[in-house]
This record gives sequence, C-alpha cells and structure tokens, in this order.
Amino acid sequence: MKVINKVIRLRKRIARLNLRPVGFVPTMGALHRGHLSLAEKAVSECPLVVVSIYVNPSQFNEADDLKNYPRTPEEDLELLCRVLRKNDLVFMPDDREIYPAEDNRVFSFGNLDNVMEALHRPGHFNGVAKVVTRLFEIVNPDIAWFGIKDLQQLAVIRKLAVQTGNSVVIKGSPIVRESDGLAMSSRNALLEPAIRKNAGVIFRTISEASEMIHDHTMDEIKEYVINKISECPGFSVEYFEIADDTDLVTLSEKCEMQEGKDYFACIAVRAGKIRLIDNIGIRL
Ligand code: PAJ
Repeated sequence: MKVINKVIRLRKRIARLNLRPVGFVPTMGALHRGHLSLAEKAVSECPLVVVSIYVNPSQFNEADDLKNYPRTPEEDLELLCRVLRKNDLVFMPDDREIYPAEDNRVFSFGNLDNVMEALHRPGHFNGVAKVVTRLFEIVNPDIAWFGIKDLQQLAVIRKLAVQTGNSVVIKGSPIVRESDGLAMSSRNALLEPAIRKNAGVIFRTISEASEMIHDHTMDEIKEYVINKISECPGFSVEYFEIADDTDLVTLSEKCEMQEGKDYFACIAVRAGKIRLIDNIGIRL
C-alpha cells in the first residue's frame, strides 16, 4: 500500500492505476477490527481500495471530544498493511487539503435531522456531509463502505448520495463487537477501566429489548432498558428509540410496526465521560 497526503497526488495515482471499481473506506483513524472489516470487504470486491484517515473537525460538536479523539497513525498504518495490497492507497490529508476554503454548505436530510443523534449532536451530520462529499469528490469511488454501527450516519450518506446525484454505491457493513458484546469504537480506548468492565451491559440490554418486543409494550421496553443501564455506576441513557430502517422514524407504539419489516433499536449512552452508541435489528 502507498500513503498519500495530497489531493493532487491521490487523484493522479488513481487515474494512473486505472483500476475499476474503486472501493473507498473513509475513517477517522484509531483503527480497530470494525474499520478493518470494511477494508477487507472493499479488498474482496475492488481491484483498487482507498482508505482515508482524517479526523474531521467540522463534525465534532464538543471541543473536548475533538481534542481528546484518539490519534494513532503509526498503529493504523501497521494494521492496514495487513489488509491492503500493493496498489491500495491510504489517504491521510491535513485540514488544508480537505478544506482549502471555508465550507459554509448547509445540508438537510428531512426526518434524519430531527431524531436521535441529530438532536443530541447539533451540526454533526452537516459536518459529516461536508467531509464525505469532499472525500467522494477527491476519490470518486464506485463503491463506499460504512458501518451499521453508525446507523443514522449510514442513512444520511445514502440520502446525500441521492441528493448530490453521485452514483457511488453505498454499502452498509455489520457491527464488529468485543467479546463482551461492546461495539468496537475508537472511543472505547478512552473508557476508564471500571466503566469498560461494565460496558457489555449496553449490548446485553438492547439484545434483551429486541426479544421483549414480542410480549411487552414499547413503554415497558424503554423503561426496562433505561433502568437496567442506569443501574451501572457511571452509566446513563441519552436516548433509546426503535426506528424504521430508512428514514429512522422513531416509534412510540408497537402497533406502528409492520410485520416482516426491519426496525432498529438504537441507543446512546454516557459511560463515564465517554458517549457510546449502538443498535440492533428488531422485527415483530
Ligand atoms: P469512524 O468513526 O472512524 O468510522 C469509520 C467507519 O467505520 C464508519 O463507517 C463506521 O460506521 C465504521 N465502524 C466504526 N465502528 C465499527 C464497528 N464496530 N463495526 C463495523 N463498522 C464500524 O464514521 C466516521 O469515522 C466518520 O464520521 C467518517 C464517515 C469517516 C466521516 O468523517
């Protein structure tokens, strides 16, 4: 694999290699097996893969979160070496390469702007949309992979591709978990040991919730999830919602669910000082 920092060099390299389809995996680094699973899928389907590593300031709505975000470039390259091939590219730009001029674009994503992450992280998806449109413009991928871990982000990106008329195929990829069920996340490295020890409660509880749907009301499920997780010292639930799989319309009654259709139970938890999200598929 080759590491490239400049837009112009990346574009030239992709043009010279002339290998299609080009697969793309955007990341913010501090890579773990979740990220690598996306890169592996890209490698299995595309003769040329680009992985980007860029901590995008415009999507952080808390200054401390940006400052503390883990950055492990050497380890990242070491891990990518094991997955990527000779011609594949790792794009590690700086801020000037991504935002050469001020970017004041404002995006709208309909219902996706009014639920869950959008309510709790104002401006976050606008920042994601800015960077992803810019990265798509630079890489011009045929297929791009995103994790179902960030379900609302995946829905936003699908919508963004339609809105911008970009023909890139967006593929969602399953959540990779630690042995206790905790969804892998770059932020897990920031969890205090006592909090990390109990963090398996999040997946355990939403798994239970996905079973409870058969014989409990929505209110009972929500109450159970919030109580169970709040029992752990240092844990509090920011939201727990059951939403449809496209516009993520959140439901308040079970009767709003259609049999045979896919829904997701989605959760955001404050675990000590760190905010974690997770989700699980749910069906009547
Ligand atoms: P980041 O959090 O680094 O994640 C990069 C990609 O890895 C995302 O598509 C995310 O959903 C996926 N991912 C993270 N954890 C995963 C897990 N446990 N299992 C499977 N996939 C997982 O998401 C971002 O970066 C940024 O918002 C980005 C899209 C790069 C734009 O800046």
